[in-house]
Amino acid sequence: MATGFNKWGMTTVIVSAMILSDLVQCKTNPYADVFSPSRSMLRPQLAVNGWEAIVSLLTPTTRRCPHLGCALKWNPQEHTWDCPCHGSRFAEDGKRIDGPATGDLKL
Ligand code: FES
Repeated sequence: MATGFNKWGMTTVIVSAMILSDLVQCKTNPYADVFSPSRSMLRPQLAVNGWEAIVSLLTPTTRRCPHLGCALKWNPQEHTWDCPCHGSRFAEDGKRIDGPATGDLKL
């Protein structure tokens, strides 16, 4: 069973099916290590993400994400407030478009 793709299930379910199918047939799959539950999470990108989250939390701004408080960034193409930390998005009037935030922005 493959689960927990956090909004990326439509694409990663295909890769998961290929990996699981190959594993059952004792074949090697080039993506198996990337999706392995026992893979190491200690990668350079983890430090980069942690640093960006800290910077975002310390950035002076009036717009904060109701999920965990990261500084929201205005997206001029979509006219949305986007959270760089976990991907929540809000309409110009503060209505929640996408989570993990569960509520609207308080403007
Ligand atoms: S802090 Fe914004 S989505 Fe988590």
